[in-house]
Amino acid sequence: MIDPRIEMMKARTSRIENIVLFVSGKGGVGKSLLSSAVSYILSERGYETVYLDLDFHGPSGQNLFHLDKLMEGGKSGLKTALSGKVKVASIGYMVKDNPLPLSGVDRMEVLLDFFSILDFGELDFLIVDLPPGMGEETIFLQRMFREKLSAVVVTLNSQMSLTTVKRVVNYLKVQKIGIIGAVVNMSNLFGKYEPEQVSRELGIEVIGSITYHPEVEQYKTIKDKLEKTPRFMFEIERLVEKMLGKLSRRLT
Ligand SMILES: Nc1ncnc2c1ncn2[C@@H]1O[C@H](COP(=O)(O)OP(=O)(O)O)[C@@H](O)[C@H]1O
Ligand SMILES: [Mg+2]
Repeated sequence: MIDPRIEMMKARTSRIENIVLFVSGKGGVGKSLLSSAVSYILSERGYETVYLDLDFHGPSGQNLFHLDKLMEGGKSGLKTALSGKVKVASIGYMVKDNPLPLSGVDRMEVLLDFFSILDFGELDFLIVDLPPGMGEETIFLQRMFREKLSAVVVTLNSQMSLTTVKRVVNYLKVQKIGIIGAVVNMSNLFGKYEPEQVSRELGIEVIGSITYHPEVEQYKTIKDKLEKTPRFMFEIERLVEKMLGKLSRRLT
């Protein structure tokens, strides 16, 4: 029997142009910071964008947005929250403060429930902030939306980060998920290789390099972090340009 949630989900997500996953091998490398910053800039440029936090363990990326309106149910489904022009959604809405660890199957169920009720509307970008590594979330998205998916790989320029992220890159390639490129974060703190070497090491292009900006920590929201740290803003703008260039064939 066909699961009716799959039909609902397909209908609800049919008007999403691009689903971009932010992935890494390890935690703490900047996925949440960079994916929220990219979501903010895309929205500022007039692209309809949802930032979706799919980190089951600690959905925290949504805390980077000052919410003008919370997620709420409506006639057409669960509406995303709003932060200025950015639409924000989080799996935290489903798991609340539930301390129970979810098994793989349960996690798939929660994802199906969530995606079948979420009302995304017409979107240019669904930006997905993932937990580290490749878990059920990625498998789920790959199964349901493979033709719309692409990935930005976030790494530090350290041996440990590169070794773990390489496994993720291999997985993405096997699953035929398009890789937009790698972003080297905190590039002034870790400097194992030259960018060309990082590219060679990972077998993908490096599309961005983001410096560690200590000031960024002083501000709570991604809007303030960007607008009050112009160097950070500039680097993210450049990353967004690169991403748009790489995705342009899908946007036209
Ligand atoms: N380029 C950067 N400049 C300043 N702080 C950063 C930078 N990248 C990450 N951080 C900080 O490091 C911490 C971990 O980043 P986070 O985005 O939460 O990582 P992840 O989502 O990969 O676990 C956060 O406090 C974040 O603000
Ligand atoms: Mg995170």
